[in-house]
Amino acid sequence: MRLPTTLSGSASRVQTTSGSASEPPAGMGSPARASDQTWRTLVDALPDAALTLDAKGVVIHQNHLICRLFPEMGVGRPMGQLLRNPDLLTALEKALASPGAPMSLKFTERVPIARTIEARATRLDPSLQSAVLLVTFRDLTENERVERMRADFVANASHELRTPLAALQGYIETLQGPARDDAEARERFLGIMLSQARRMTRLVDDLLSLSRVEMRAHIIPQGRTDLNEIAAEVVQSLDALIAQHGVEIAVSRLAGAAPIRADREEIVQALQNLVHNAIKYGRDKGRVEIAVNRVASSGNTVSRLAVSVTDDGPGIEAHHLPRLVERFYRVSAASSRAKGGTGLGLAIVKHIMARHRGDLTIASEIGKGSTFTLSFDELPG
Ligand SMILES: Nc1ncnc2c1ncn2[C@@H]1O[C@H](COP(=O)(O)OP(=O)(O)O)[C@@H](O)[C@H]1O
Ligand SMILES: [Mg+2]
Repeated sequence: MRLPTTLSGSASRVQTTSGSASEPPAGMGSPARASDQTWRTLVDALPDAALTLDAKGVVIHQNHLICRLFPEMGVGRPMGQLLRNPDLLTALEKALASPGAPMSLKFTERVPIARTIEARATRLDPSLQSAVLLVTFRDLTENERVERMRADFVANASHELRTPLAALQGYIETLQGPARDDAEARERFLGIMLSQARRMTRLVDDLLSLSRVEMRAHIIPQGRTDLNEIAAEVVQSLDALIAQHGVEIAVSRLAGAAPIRADREEIVQALQNLVHNAIKYGRDKGRVEIAVNRVASSGNTVSRLAVSVTDDGPGIEAHHLPRLVERFYRVSAASSRAKGGTGLGLAIVKHIMARHRGDLTIASEIGKGSTFTLSFDELPG
């Protein structure tokens, strides 16, 4: 009996197959049944997708996680016909040839979707009769995506910090050297240095905010608060900025109470970010409207409350909308920087809303303006 020929797909199907994965293949003597059942139970209990193969490469048993990973796989089928990866087959042969030395291998699948899978093959004790190899599979696709995102995030954050840092360093060197005795240049450079230092502070503040919200993502907020009050508080806190931009602010409250379950400070922060954006990216001396509403909900059990922020600015092209909540995504990095942005505001809003089981929706029309809406389940009075 040699594995390689059969793993490559030339095996005839064993006749011992039964439809059920939990039934042992026929032909096994009863003395073997006890231990047979034991290893089947072990395979079923493994946290990874797992199957056992006979020396011909035919599946003897598989756990339910296999069905999720490879729906086509089944007891009695030659594994090599479904997973035609030559490296995988080589790894299986090696594992078979070297008891006590499990082989592991990462391979990619293109169909039905691109996936990265890690396989481990372990030679089993020959006393287990027909099963000679235990093969486990782990889908690494999601892990790799998260890892890539984390790496991108660190690269972006470092880049964002390095830019003002490089500027600061340049001005310091100039002040120490050529501009040493130039009082006028000193004044100007110190002003720029202060604004670069502030930019770094904003970035670090936003990074910390983001990490705090993320850390609390699984803790359901316990407080009770009112959206009408939050809207009023946010307008008050942005008074100076509103005056500075000459923006007209209109607040329309919901008649009566607008109670939601929320961490008050976080909702204030989320709404502040939206109003701040409306002021910054909206029309110069334009109008910003904050409205608290009761909205129709799809499921009719609880009604929803929403607070929306509408500006009459230039609007945002549709293709940007789904990406605005990504960290560091900006329609124009230059304009965001010039306006003191970090590119993290909407990412923070998104995380706050996720923690509150609420939604953030964005609608925009070029030439007319944008509306950002936060919505929550209404708390029964
Ligand atoms: N009201 C708005 N009108 C037009 N563009 C907006 C508006 N709000 C946000 N944006 C766009 O979304 C981007 C991301 O926003 P945000 O995450 O708050 O970052 P930041 O304001 O720091 O740049 C902004 O850079 C801007 O391009
Ligand atoms: Mg912002």
